[in-house]
Parts: sequence; C-alpha cells; structure tokens
Amino acid sequence: MRINKSCTVFLMMVMVGISTYAQHKHKNGVEHSHSHYTLHDSIPAHKLIFPSKTPDRIISNLTEDPAHTIAVNWRTDQQVKKGIVEVALATDGPEFLLRDLRKVTANSQIFENQNRNEPLVKATYHSALVSNLEPNTTYVYRVGNGEKDNGYWSEWFQITTAKTGGKEPFSFIYFGDAQNNVKSLWSRVIRNSYRQFPQVDFMLHAGDLINDRDANLEWGEWFHAGSFIHATVPSVMTPGNHEYRDGVLTTLWRPSFTLPENGPSEALKETCFAIDYQDMKLISIDSEGFDESMDARTAQVKWLDSVLQSNTKKWTTITTHYPVYSTKEGRDNWELREAIKPLIDKYGVDLVLQGHDHTYARGFPENEGKGLTVVKNAGTVYAVSVSGPKMYESQDQKWMVRRGEYTQLFQIITVSEDTISYGAYTPIGTLYDAFEIVKKNGKKTLINKIPDSPTRLKKDFIKTE
Ligand SMILES: [Fe+2]
Repeated sequence: MRINKSCTVFLMMVMVGISTYAQHKHKNGVEHSHSHYTLHDSIPAHKLIFPSKTPDRIISNLTEDPAHTIAVNWRTDQQVKKGIVEVALATDGPEFLLRDLRKVTANSQIFENQNRNEPLVKATYHSALVSNLEPNTTYVYRVGNGEKDNGYWSEWFQITTAKTGGKEPFSFIYFGDAQNNVKSLWSRVIRNSYRQFPQVDFMLHAGDLINDRDANLEWGEWFHAGSFIHATVPSVMTPGNHEYRDGVLTTLWRPSFTLPENGPSEALKETCFAIDYQDMKLISIDSEGFDESMDARTAQVKWLDSVLQSNTKKWTTITTHYPVYSTKEGRDNWELREAIKPLIDKYGVDLVLQGHDHTYARGFPENEGKGLTVVKNAGTVYAVSVSGPKMYESQDQKWMVRRGEYTQLFQIITVSEDTISYGAYTPIGTLYDAFEIVKKNGKKTLINKIPDSPTRLKKDFIKTE
C-alpha cells in the first residue's frame, strides 16, 4: 500500500492518541474511573436492558384492519414523556420531508419492572395507531419525541399496508419458539428469513419468544435480533408458557405490543384474538391462559366457536403455543385437543401453527398412508416448529408426515386464491419440508412436497446415554 502525506499525518495522530490513552490508563498503575460513564456500564449488555431518550424496541404489529392501519410501539427512558409518529407516503428521494408530515400522538405510559436477578428498569412505553391509510401502499414513518433534534428520533422505516380482497397472494413467515440465547443464536434465523424472503407481508411468532417472562435482557435480545425487521414487517404473536409465570402474563407484553383486543374477555386482550388478513382468518388461542384458568378455557372455546361460525374467509389459520398434537409422549395437551379439535374439524380450519416442543413435525390426524404425495379430502394440517437453539427429541407418530430434530427452522407460507404453499427452511436456506393445500370447488387436496433429505435426529449430532 502506498502511503501518501495525509495518510502519514493521520497515522501519527492515531499513534499519539494511542500513546496518550496508554499513559492515562497506566498512570500510577491505576486505571482511572470515567465519571461520565453511567452506573449502567457495570451491567453486562446494559444497552439491551436500559432505554435512552432515543427510541428502541420499535415494532409494528398487525392490526384488525391491516390494509388501513399500522400499529407501532417503542420504548424510551422516562425523561421522554410523549411519543410522536411521523408518517408520509414513501417517495423515491427525501422529498417526503418537504411536504407536510402527518403526526400521530402515541399513548405514552410510564412503566417499570424488575425481573429476578436484574436491575430495576424504568421506561416510557409508547403505542400508536396510524389509521386512514391506503391499502397496498408503502409509507415511511419514524418515531420520536416530537422535537426537532434528530438524535431523539428513530430512522425512517418503510412499511407496506396489506392489500384488500382475496385474489392477490400474500405471505407470512411463521417461527416456533425463539426462547433461548436469542441474541446469540436466534438472530441468524430471523435475519436470514428476511434475507431469503424480503417481500414477506407479516411475521408470526407462535409463543415463547423469550425464556423468563419479565427478563428485560431477554426482551432486549429479542428486539435486537430482529432489529429493523420488527419495524418494517408487521408481527403478530401468541404467548407461550414462558411469557407466563404462575398463571400471570409478563407485564411487558401489553406495553411492548399492540395486538387486537377482540378476544373473549378483558383478561385475554392481546393474547386471544382474530385478524382478517385478505382472505384468511388468523386466530390466536392463548393456550397457557387456557391451561391455567378454567374461565379462560371456557371463554376461548365459546369465542372460537362464534368466530369460526361467522367466518366468511376462504382460509383459516390458528396459532397456539401448545401443540394440539405433540411430538413426544408425555408432552400431550389433551385438554387443549379435546376442547378445540372438534371446532377445528367442524369448521375445516386449514392450518394450525404451534411451538413448545422444540422439534419439528408436520402432518394431520388421519394420516393413514404415510408417504402419500397427494391426499384427497384433506383435513387440517398441524405444524410444530422451533426457531431457537433449544432442542428436544421427538417420536415418530402416526399423524406426522415430516419430522425433524435439532434443526432451527422458519416457515414461509404463501396464501393465494386457491392455494396455500408452505416451506420450512433452515437458517442457511435449506428446504426441510414443503406442501401445498389446494382448495377448489369445495374440495381440499394436500400435496406433499417433502425434499428428498433424511430426517434430522438429535442423536446424530449429540450422543446421549
Ligand atoms: Fe413452551
């Protein structure tokens, strides 16, 4: 490399800087404390735990009307008392800034929580609903305190509203439990899902996003792993047992997200709900609430019956954390199955997307002839998946068409007029399972498209006694 004069001057400045730093550090053999550093610096990963005046944990959620509204949530420190969303139609250049920006005031709430083994975290949580938007339109938005200083605003994100009508296809990515080592090992799953399929319309998380209900570090890791994707692609999530402890939902759930409040009761707001997304009805059943409380169980079953009875959508998908069919003996959720399976059958639900078992399995209860490529008069397809690194074992069972262990997966699901296409991918983009459901003239056919690769088993990677 040829070094010119200005490069030499720069290098000298760097060397002087290093030497000054070294002198400062070792003067009297003692490292000086830096009084401008906050106390937070002694806490590992403090940036993932503590808020600042600049928004973090920014996320957009699916609303009940995703073609015309966008929900945005974010967090700041408590010095920030109010939250503003600025919105504009996206433009090719920065000219949207030259026009009048629409400003929407958030609902801002002072909040604090302290998980076991964690410091007290004080924050302001902001939640805004931007309505009266055009369908299938790309907007730019940013969130901040409403003042002029750019330092207290997020960057401008792009987001596209849903289409209307049933004919145009849309896609979503479904994730099983992220739950553990979320920053370290889940980040590549969500990031590569987006890299593989950036045109995704929304993302669906089937519970156990984190491991310890109120752990601010774990939630910080979840938001860090998804980063700008959370702000760009709307998300929808159902809670798992790890969002609960002793029957109580994490206090962070409702401040962090804006999920529909159209469930059966006050207690199940934002955990049990239904969304109409183009020609698909998407239903979240709060299966931990279901398990913990007889009231919640009765209310959800009654509500599910009425939602399915009045459903006019061609496609119906249910997400719930506990599997209706589990992947191993001893993990059976018979109360859930006895309560909702009759409704799933009665109303011909197409997909049930679940988590909790830390393995992969996909199939259907009437799976008599394994290996069939085409199944006529197909019923409901059940899937259990895992996106994080915690891995259990499973057992081959009759209902399964494809099974896998020790594999982190995300599922890209495309819904079009007559077909649902489903592909389960590993974080490096390898297809592990695929099928299509074709619904035409009142008939439903399942076409299995399982890749010709062996079943992945944990024992092939980890030797157990
Ligand atoms: Fe779970």
